[in-house]
Amino acid sequence: MSIKKNVRQSLAIIGALCALPGVALPADAATLTVSVGQPGVPINRGMWGIFFEDINFGADGGLYAELVKNRSFEFPDALMGWREQGTGAGATAISAQSRLTIQTNAPFNSVNPHYLRIQAASPAACGAVNEGFRGMGVKAGEQYDFSVQVRKMTGSPQLLVELVGADGKVLAQEKINKLPADWQLKKVTLHPKTTVAQARLNILVVGGGTVDLDLVSLFPRHTWKQRPGGLRADMVQLLADLKPGFLRFPGGCVVEGHTLANRYQWKTTIGPIAERKLILNRWNDEFKHRPTPDYYQTFGLGFFEYFQLCEDIGAAPLPVLNCGMACQFNSGELVPLDQLDPYIQDALDLVEFANGPVTSVWGARRAAMGHPQPFGLNMLGIGNEQWGPAYLERYDRFHAALKAKYPALLLIASAGPSPSDQNFQLAWAKLRVLPADLVDEHCYANPPWFFTNAHRYDNYDRRGPKVFFGEYAAQSDRTVSVKNRNNLECALAEAACMTGLERNGDVVQMASYAPLFAHVDGWQWCPDLIWMDNLRSYGTPNYYVQKLFANNAGDMALPLQLTAPDGIKLFASATRDNATGEMILKVVNGGNAPAGVNLDFSGAKKIAPRATVFTLAGRSGRDENSLTNPQKISPETARLKIPAPQFPYTFPANSLTVLRLKITK
Ligand code: AHR
Repeated sequence: MSIKKNVRQSLAIIGALCALPGVALPADAATLTVSVGQPGVPINRGMWGIFFEDINFGADGGLYAELVKNRSFEFPDALMGWREQGTGAGATAISAQSRLTIQTNAPFNSVNPHYLRIQAASPAACGAVNEGFRGMGVKAGEQYDFSVQVRKMTGSPQLLVELVGADGKVLAQEKINKLPADWQLKKVTLHPKTTVAQARLNILVVGGGTVDLDLVSLFPRHTWKQRPGGLRADMVQLLADLKPGFLRFPGGCVVEGHTLANRYQWKTTIGPIAERKLILNRWNDEFKHRPTPDYYQTFGLGFFEYFQLCEDIGAAPLPVLNCGMACQFNSGELVPLDQLDPYIQDALDLVEFANGPVTSVWGARRAAMGHPQPFGLNMLGIGNEQWGPAYLERYDRFHAALKAKYPALLLIASAGPSPSDQNFQLAWAKLRVLPADLVDEHCYANPPWFFTNAHRYDNYDRRGPKVFFGEYAAQSDRTVSVKNRNNLECALAEAACMTGLERNGDVVQMASYAPLFAHVDGWQWCPDLIWMDNLRSYGTPNYYVQKLFANNAGDMALPLQLTAPDGIKLFASATRDNATGEMILKVVNGGNAPAGVNLDFSGAKKIAPRATVFTLAGRSGRDENSLTNPQKISPETARLKIPAPQFPYTFPANSLTVLRLKITK
């Protein structure tokens, strides 16, 4: 749809929905008065952020654009994702022409010692096939960079590299003619002429002989900022469009691991790709009803790439580190307190890696990776979703060491998985005293919880730690149910609650939805903010709620009064944007009928004659977006004539409205 048509349609909508000036609403209509003349309370302009975890193929198979699964043959089942390709294609293929074995005796890199040996008995092309992550998405006209560490052991073979469609049709092929006798990196670029969502990669030996392969890689040339070996551009674009204030990373439960052995350790995620050692992704086998046996963390998207991503999209980094505890929903393994020092040292070293001078040990590592400038890290999460006395005493140790070296670093402590149970109460009581700078509250609950909790923070204690509402999502069914949907009702429930976070922005400093990404064929947990397949990605209604809030944040929360007749589900917040002098009003109508509201901005000395209005609405709370209809529920933009400082406005059923209006106090 052209922008012109879009705006025309939107103007028509505004005309239809907005009660005419002078035409009064019923006497008992809702009223919303914003004290635009009062100063309000300062809030964190970057309060709306994002939380990235490698769950649902978020990194491997998703954001990290590598198309080859198990590229280094380091999965415990070293041939997982690979199979033999005999001579000939499809049904006519003759197998047993090539033998695939895994070797370790003379690797090109001893950190990741496994490699593939292809023994080709036939001079005709035969070898190995990689299936990708639920296939490989390739687009017509784009370039795909293949690279491999290779050596020839016997014969005078060549390599034939092919992209093949599900129907066996070759989409692109290139030859590597001269194979070295010792390990060497070889590269070719493939140019498919057809778009295919589930292609596969053939690496075939031609001429017979024995060939060793390792670090087999295929990347689209077109990645975010065209970085070789980089991130999927469409997915990063969706993140950039949010204009997030911060980016929490890398989890989530992946920080903790089932056991401490498979916890996330940032130091193993930096440096040359060939030296990053993979671990089991804890979501691989977490849910018996959603097993994902081929899910590992290869750390191609490691801590350097994370800091770089933050910089690219203008988000403040917020890393979360293991605090000496494995996931308390799994083993709950604890590091004894007298053995906690290496964990604390990891935290201290991470700050140095992010911010330290290039003359420091870890600052030098950052510089060697191409970023001598510091990344500007100023907050750190200690533990993910931990609870109980064991957590609090570990947090205390981290706090003492980190504050001693970096007094200005903001430390974030966990309130546990529930937003109100006994562990939550204990955490808050202790963390007020310890103290933490921010306390991370998590909540996965049904939409009524979110509507009701729009007032949760109205009476929170303003002294002591601030709140980070670090993981939340409305569940249309129940937590971890596979029936949860990213529908408009859930999105509006979250929006209603977010008006409460914003009104109380003096105590709630940051908030982020969870989880962020999910692959339609590779997910474990729903709902999720952004869904993708191998070629496409789209934002859910929940995504557009986040976008509207983050793109329309403010510098101070303005006091407001909202009165509505019983049964009308209205929620509101108002902020002031110092840079533009605008008041930003956000109103959620969570009801199934339009709601007429008398708006009152009469405290202003002067108001502009026109406002910009963004409306996110749908016919039903059950409305959703999809790969084929990605913008069914997405904001419409319009200009609205402001007739007077007080005027009636009708908010559509099932809607979030954001109104920006220039005012002079
Ligand atoms: O967001 C999914 C999971 O929910 C996170 O990994 C964890 O912190 C929470 O339990």
